Amino acid sequence: MGIKSSKRNFFQRILGLPVTSEPKDSNCWSYSGGKLVLDLNKAPELKKPGGAIRLEGKDLPERILVFFGEDKKYHVFRNRCSHVGHRRLDPVPGTNTVQCCSVSKSTYDFSGNKIYGPAPHPVIKYDVTVDGDKLSAKIS
Ligand code: FES
Repeated sequence: MGIKSSKRNFFQRILGLPVTSEPKDSNCWSYSGGKLVLDLNKAPELKKPGGAIRLEGKDLPERILVFFGEDKKYHVFRNRCSHVGHRRLDPVPGTNTVQCCSVSKSTYDFSGNKIYGPAPHPVIKYDVTVDGDKLSAKIS
């Protein structure tokens, strides 16, 4: 099966460097009591369809990928490919998929199901609530 890929050169894939950056404003999000809360006003990266940020640290139990899909919905994924390298994921423009940044390019649909590559399992997707400018997700 053919798939489209994120633009990564071989060395970026060997090193597992994702396309998606951490947010410019690190205060755009918080995590407490199992709940991630993100102020969309402080995360301009998520304004346009295809925009994404990765969240790490601040006692988060998992790395998190947040993106505004080309389906015009917000998505929150555990940012950990289920293949053995457990590399980070990036949305792939124009495909409604997210893809591992490694050489093997395991690829998942917006439900987290694997559609390509060696990954043995789906990736975890968290339920998202948007209330005004606040996005929240229970991370468990
Ligand atoms: S770590 Fe994702 S395909 Fe290997």
